[in-house]
Amino acid sequence: METRILDGKEIGRRIREEVGREIEEKKLSPGLTVVLVGDDPASKVYVKSKTKACQELGIRGERVLLDESISTAQLLQVINRLNLDDQVDGILVQLPLPRHIDKKLVLEAVDPSKDVDGFHPVNVGRLCTGDFTLAPCTPMGIMEMLRMEKIAVKGAHAVIVGRSDIVGKPMAMLLLHSHATITICHSRTRDLAQVCRRADILVAAVGRTALVGRDFIKEGATVIDVGMNRIEDREEAMQLFGEDSERFKRFQDKGYALVGDVHPREPLGRAGALTPVPGGVGPLTIAHLVKNTLLAHEARHC
Ligand code: GUN
Repeated sequence: METRILDGKEIGRRIREEVGREIEEKKLSPGLTVVLVGDDPASKVYVKSKTKACQELGIRGERVLLDESISTAQLLQVINRLNLDDQVDGILVQLPLPRHIDKKLVLEAVDPSKDVDGFHPVNVGRLCTGDFTLAPCTPMGIMEMLRMEKIAVKGAHAVIVGRSDIVGKPMAMLLLHSHATITICHSRTRDLAQVCRRADILVAAVGRTALVGRDFIKEGATVIDVGMNRIEDREEAMQLFGEDSERFKRFQDKGYALVGDVHPREPLGRAGALTPVPGGVGPLTIAHLVKNTLLAHEARHC
């Protein structure tokens, strides 16, 4: 079986294009503010690409960069100021936060109507009931991709590996609302490969390099890889990519590679469709963030 590679960059571009068109046609002026505490290099890259994606579509994308040493109380003051600022439609506090910050207090301080991450308990609750506007960007982006690629969800058995608040749990809720049958697996699940092999749609979101191998995948299944793991070990890279591959050559040039939770080669010829890493789910997350910013703006102003 030929495995269809789902091009997240292209799908993300289409989602952003739709958002851009709506902003232009309706002459809207949404604004997103991303709050970054400290200088974690990966977070800096993410935050930059988030604000850049906004600016390209005529959304005001601003960054508030705060020192690592900021206290929870000071951060709460910043968030309160953004809550009160009518120019700000979306507030995103980049995670992870430094350990001394009370993450729960911070996420609960964001005005639910500006919570473009969908992390506030009010929005989590609304997602559970199905009556929601703002839901987490990665699972929403994945649902949009399934819709655009005409992958049937209704009646399908979806297995999600990972139970995070950011991906696993909201993904399960969204698939459930679209009438899939849901199984959520995690590190304590017995016979993980066997459970995964029952999936028509398999979502891997645990942060374990190449955990999902060929024996996890039913013939023809759609495999969605949310993992983004950095590998630096030469032996590991050679095993994963194959010694003569382009990817192994690139690994040798750069000294590292990004690999998902799904093995990069084993699903090929067995899965019906597969999201690559990189270039699969990542661009969908950013695309949905700009969409959530538009939705927040419209809900607040229109
Ligand atoms: N860090 C990694 N993923 C995310 C995300 O989706 N939102 C936020 N705020 N931080 C993250």
